[in-house]
Amino acid sequence: LHIVVLMGGWASERPVSLTSGAGVADALESRGHRVTRIDMERDVAARIAAAAPDVVFNALHGVPGEDGTVQGMLDLMGVPYTHSGLATSVIAIDKELTKHALVPHGVPMPGGRIVDSASLHEGDPLVRPYVLKPVNEGSSVGVAIVMDESNYGNPIRPDAAGPWQEFGRLLAEPYIRGRELTTAVLAGSDGPRALMVTELVPESGFYDFDAKYTEGMTRHVCPAEIPPEIERLCLEYALQAHQLLGCRGTSRSDFRWDDEQSEAGLFLLETNTQPGMTPLSLVPEQARACGISYADLVELIVEDALR
Ligand code: DAL
Ligand code: MG
Repeated sequence: LHIVVLMGGWASERPVSLTSGAGVADALESRGHRVTRIDMERDVAARIAAAAPDVVFNALHGVPGEDGTVQGMLDLMGVPYTHSGLATSVIAIDKELTKHALVPHGVPMPGGRIVDSASLHEGDPLVRPYVLKPVNEGSSVGVAIVMDESNYGNPIRPDAAGPWQEFGRLLAEPYIRGRELTTAVLAGSDGPRALMVTELVPESGFYDFDAKYTEGMTRHVCPAEIPPEIERLCLEYALQAHQLLGCRGTSRSDFRWDDEQSEAGLFLLETNTQPGMTPLSLVPEQARACGISYADLVELIVEDALR
């Protein structure tokens, strides 16, 4: 096949996408596909049209590659592409809209409220401890955990994302103490299946941007050492989220689990429709643990796009 691998772009997660895209492109070439690598700029539609590929592998993260914009463009052009479509992407990129889609169906997610960044100086939007996050960023860009005494962790990354005001809508959610879990879902000819549960144990206590992408800063326990009922619920909720949102290819749902509260302490935080494909990323790691190599994973995602 002739495959355009779309990567880069201008989101704060640009460097992550370039790493995902390079890995995907190398894997596709190793399988004999003809690959055109495109670092997305404003002329992306013309460049894809000129390349005239059989399929686009979307290796973008963040806006506008993960929020429906690029998906709508490719729909208009009539070019098949990997991962989720327009409507799914619009909902899943927005952590608040995702709650409206999933909570009524019984998927537990934290409460909270939308906050106007201009009102932050007036005081805490929620009782501490709470988490403040942009509704539509990824990789923990712009996320702050506001504890009782102090703020810590990744307050604002001036290099990557700018001050709060640049983030549009913010979401404040109660902080869930305890453990960080994640589950990948992978499409197949028999339908999607949830792969397994990984626990992330960051050295710093906060699974922020640096902990996500710096070798050695986070221990990945795969499969997670958790009670069977919590494992079962993570698999169930991740699959439910994938299906309710209408995801394609692959998705990854992230959870917090307050282990003092057993099942009632498990909350889905978000579903990622363009999960990372870097060497430290979690979908490739879970696939590998299930006996699916990185190159096989990439091919399965392409196959699903052409199904
Ligand atoms: N937003 C990053 C790429 C992830 O979900 O893996
Ligand atoms: Mg995310």
